[in-house]
Amino acid sequence: MEPITKQKLLIVEDDPGLQRQLKWHFDGYEVLMASTREQALTLLRRHEPAVVLQDLGLPPDAEGVEEGLACLRDILRLAPHTKVIVVTGNGQRDNALRAVAQGAYDFYQKPLDVSVLDLITQRAFHMAELESALRRSLGGLPGMTGMIGSCEAMLKVGRMVERLAPTRASTLVLGESGTGKELVARALHNLSPRAGKTFIAINCAAIPENLLESELFGYEKGAFTGAHKTTPGKVESAEGGTLFLDEIGDMPAALQAKMLRFLQERVVERVGGREPIPVDVRVVCATHRDLPQMITDGLFRQDLYFRVAEMTLNLPALRDRGDDVLLIARAVLTSCASQHGRVVKGFTPEGEAALRAYAWPGNIRELQNRINSAVILCDGVMVTAEDLDLPVPAAAVVAEEDVLNLRVVRQRAERLCVERALARTEGNVTKAAELLGITRPTLYDLIEKLGLHTGTPA
Ligand SMILES: Nc1ncnc2c1ncn2[C@@H]1O[C@H](COP(=O)(O)OP(=O)(O)OP(=O)(O)O)[C@@H](O)[C@H]1O
Ligand SMILES: [Mg+2]
Repeated sequence: MEPITKQKLLIVEDDPGLQRQLKWHFDGYEVLMASTREQALTLLRRHEPAVVLQDLGLPPDAEGVEEGLACLRDILRLAPHTKVIVVTGNGQRDNALRAVAQGAYDFYQKPLDVSVLDLITQRAFHMAELESALRRSLGGLPGMTGMIGSCEAMLKVGRMVERLAPTRASTLVLGESGTGKELVARALHNLSPRAGKTFIAINCAAIPENLLESELFGYEKGAFTGAHKTTPGKVESAEGGTLFLDEIGDMPAALQAKMLRFLQERVVERVGGREPIPVDVRVVCATHRDLPQMITDGLFRQDLYFRVAEMTLNLPALRDRGDDVLLIARAVLTSCASQHGRVVKGFTPEGEAALRAYAWPGNIRELQNRINSAVILCDGVMVTAEDLDLPVPAAAVVAEEDVLNLRVVRQRAERLCVERALARTEGNVTKAAELLGITRPTLYDLIEKLGLHTGTPA
């Protein structure tokens, strides 16, 4: 049978009698016991417990609460998601409330009633788990269905979309292929007062030139061979809603002129028709092409450009979105796994490093494709870099210079942290180990492995 790893519970309590009692009572958890703020922080760094049970009366202020509140503050500063349950003396409700106001999760008043304390503790662990699951799954941008992102650039996109959505400004969405241009166009529609009306998308690159005009503007019966009945075009059918012209850069010159007229006069004329028909649509365009360059080359009309690009929204490439790639990857993994009925839980650390380091020329669409095949093909429950058919980065992690492999990168990072910790503690190994959240022997091993000198013997 696999050993079940116990949940870690940090108890900060200075009374030895209570310590023993609590330790014995909570034997279902891995109890980490601290008597002082300092010890508590050391254990917090080393073990990162999800829940802390903390006495508010800690030495040197065992009768007051100042030290206890300071301890609470430090814990939450270092690990803001920790659920801290403060324990106060009888009749100290006000202090308990002060602690809650400072971020404690809950409070409990002595004398000890272990069954109540049990319940509070269990609930705290449960909450911590739910919240961490939420944090892992979230990153959805407000109001933008299906769009995941939490990097500054994407939050900015989110704010822009919110601001532009209620207007009728023609908006040009720019971005490499697969960056979510269509998703943004839909969000502009869904967040607008037009949301109840239709959203019509036309891919200008996918429709043969000779059909595009009738597709867009419709035709009258008998306008050409095969025009058996009068048919409205896509522009007309978007009445009251949003028209999304994808790959506007691929629109043939003749149609560019017609589109311009439509945007200027807001009327359409069906092929073979005489009557201008007024249409109220919001136009959103997208392209991965460089329109200003196309204008210079005489391939795209400048006047049309100004009409479609009253506002411009730039979508960053996936490689420029930092950890968003991991957020999106996890969401995609979950949905692919359930779609294929496979138990796949996440990525290995190398898998994640590979996702982070790769340049993603095909952006999110490529990410989806790679994860989809990985989910189908992988053997284990964790997707590896190999499953993704991506190289494990070595040089990519530390970009400045050539690096041999991941081990070297790790070693460099270790050296940097150890050096900093030693510098901050003026070479005191015990204190440096505490800062780093490792034991003293481990730090000694590291120092030896890295060939560092500590100056003072500890
Ligand atoms: N931020 C995001 N979070 C999650 N999924 C996303 C995000 N952005 C895009 N996607 C998904 O990626 C895929 C590609 O998005 P979309 O079709 O909008 O991109 P595009 O820029 O129009 O691509 P192309 O240039 O190839 O037409 C879609 O399945 C979309 O749902
Ligand atoms: Mg698209």
